[in-house]
Amino acid sequence: MIKDKSARQNTRSQEVYEETVTEEPRINSGRLWDRHMRLAEIGALPRGGVNRQAMTTGDAAARQLLVAWANESGLTPAVDAIGNLFLRFQGRDPEPPPIMTGSHLDTQPQGGRFDGAYGVLAGLEALTTLREAGIEPLRSLELVIWNNEEGCRFAPTTMGSAVFAGALKLEEALAARDSDGVSVADALPALLAATPHAGRRALGSPVSAYIEAHIEQGPTLEANQCPVGIVTGIQGVRWFTVEVRGRAAHAGTTPRGLRRDALMSAVSVLRALSGHFHDPDDVVRFTVGRMQVSPNSPNTVPERVTFSIDFRHPDGSVLTRLGDAVPAVCQRAVHPCEVSVSEAAASPPVAFDRGLIETLALTAKELGIPHMCLQSGATHDAKWVTHLAPSGMIFVPCAGGISHSEEESATPEALAAGTRVLMSALLKLADGE
Ligand code: GLV
Ligand code: MN
Ligand code: MN
Repeated sequence: MIKDKSARQNTRSQEVYEETVTEEPRINSGRLWDRHMRLAEIGALPRGGVNRQAMTTGDAAARQLLVAWANESGLTPAVDAIGNLFLRFQGRDPEPPPIMTGSHLDTQPQGGRFDGAYGVLAGLEALTTLREAGIEPLRSLELVIWNNEEGCRFAPTTMGSAVFAGALKLEEALAARDSDGVSVADALPALLAATPHAGRRALGSPVSAYIEAHIEQGPTLEANQCPVGIVTGIQGVRWFTVEVRGRAAHAGTTPRGLRRDALMSAVSVLRALSGHFHDPDDVVRFTVGRMQVSPNSPNTVPERVTFSIDFRHPDGSVLTRLGDAVPAVCQRAVHPCEVSVSEAAASPPVAFDRGLIETLALTAKELGIPHMCLQSGATHDAKWVTHLAPSGMIFVPCAGGISHSEEESATPEALAAGTRVLMSALLKLADGE
């Protein structure tokens, strides 16, 4: 609830624009920036990036720091069975489900300082600013930290939100293992121990609406010199695991005709896949980001090669057509070895709620912040929350569109602009406008 409501109702008139802007509580952009830098010290890498993979000691330490900040703002913590963390700002009416915002604190092995952290810290800044301004929203507001968004240690991506929304079974998620054989069930208790005083939250508990802020992770906003993006949806993604099997043999003695070299066959398969996914319009996204060679010895012909495929497209029918053909493409190219292909994860393209898109666009307009609509190439937890409640996202630009890289960078001004839109939109929704 804004103290002077009449001023807000006049926002469509240009003359009261400035007046309305000053009516909004001011976020503390210095604090927002400093908290990004402080968080980035946990798991800091030499080239300025962060390695804070899901359910590691770094992930737990980041949570502890976040909860300490949230405590100062009077937010109440709760966790669910897959390790999602909720921080509640109780509304005047405790009955209706909360308006949620948030993102993730886990990172890629060589990740940046803003992917995920921004959505969490923007949400914290929004809730903290409202509290400091003495504003008491009608509905409760909640900051959520989804567990294991990145999916690089434990597949799939967006694990915590998928389990929360009922798109992935809890038992399946708990059984996922990292490359050292550690399961989510093994690793989760240490993460939960970081918040010993948190209450328990049921999976799938009701949500009124969800807004996630994030860096764009692509080049569109920067290219258009636009400070804020309103996200219309998220393209679909399919993950495959390909295993090529040959025969181990001595590198010095085995003639070519007797070899079944799994790495050489994997190279042929990769060439065939690269042709299969070639798209002159450059819309298809095809990535092989992980490869394991066994026994990985310089003087043994490789016996087995396993690699990942990350394939994305905004059109569900293309996702089906090109994705379903992957096993046959691999099969045709693998001679003289053998190949098996399994699908590790899939999510269809998602369109965000039209009403929420309009609310976000109107909010940006009222604040005088230029904005544009765009689709997300990266995947996000918001896609699963659409199963439970109207959901939407706010993007801010990042330098060169680079993300999943230690080079990832964003400006304090960009972070602040997105946070202002986030805070005002949260308040609108919480007050039932
Ligand atoms: C999330 O990081 C993704 O893979 O898009
Ligand atoms: Mn992210
Ligand atoms: Mn990411």
